[in-house]
Amino acid sequence: MKKHEKIALDSLLSRSSTDDLTSPAPKGDELETILSAVMRAPDHGKLRPWRLVLVHGEARVTLAERVVASMKRIDPDVPEKKIEKRYNRFSTMPLIIVLGMHLKPEDKIPLIEQELAVGAAGMNLLNALHAAGYGAVWVSGEITYDPVFAAELGFPAPHGLAGFFFVGTPKDEDHHSKRRPVAPYVTEWTGEPVSFGADKD
Ligand SMILES: Cc1cc2nc3c(=O)[nH]c(=O)nc-3n(C[C@H](O)[C@H](O)[C@H](O)COP(=O)(O)O)c2cc1C
Repeated sequence: MKKHEKIALDSLLSRSSTDDLTSPAPKGDELETILSAVMRAPDHGKLRPWRLVLVHGEARVTLAERVVASMKRIDPDVPEKKIEKRYNRFSTMPLIIVLGMHLKPEDKIPLIEQELAVGAAGMNLLNALHAAGYGAVWVSGEITYDPVFAAELGFPAPHGLAGFFFVGTPKDEDHHSKRRPVAPYVTEWTGEPVSFGADKD
């Protein structure tokens, strides 16, 4: 294995999520390079269904207010503690990237494949952020699937949201979680229906 390939593989093998983030978040040319990784996501039909919305500065407060409104719309009895936690996270994360989906249900490419391409874009984004030395976590929650909230952000049906990426610098450089072994998730096909160690109770 060549040196640069080993570095790339080590990066893939060491990424993990964290929401314990502080400034700085990437910006300028560096941010554009990181974001460009989504353009390497596999994409049947070249539909490029992923959309990235950058939220920083004061706009985070407006986003947090919309998040709270969505939570109350979904559940008028939502506990105040939950609201407070969500509001604080959305209004203070160094950078939030909303991952939107620009979907074409009438296209010959099945909708699930369009959504999978957006998911692949999200994974590339997480890996690119990690490779560049930043920390991130992909979060969703019921607000992600609130069509009113999605429309407010610019994704009216049939479009929608795939989630939110909290981005910044990890407060703890050693935050990385232990990587689990892959063996329970892999099997060899011998002509019979497969089963996995991961599915055994
Ligand atoms: C589509 C999607 C939505 C997610 N939503 C949440 C969420 O709302 N809250 C949360 O704690 N983790 C959520 N996760 C999981 C985290 O992003 C993360 O993967 C998990 O905490 C495990 O950490 P790891 O990436 O280090 O393995 C989501 C993951 C995906 C792919």
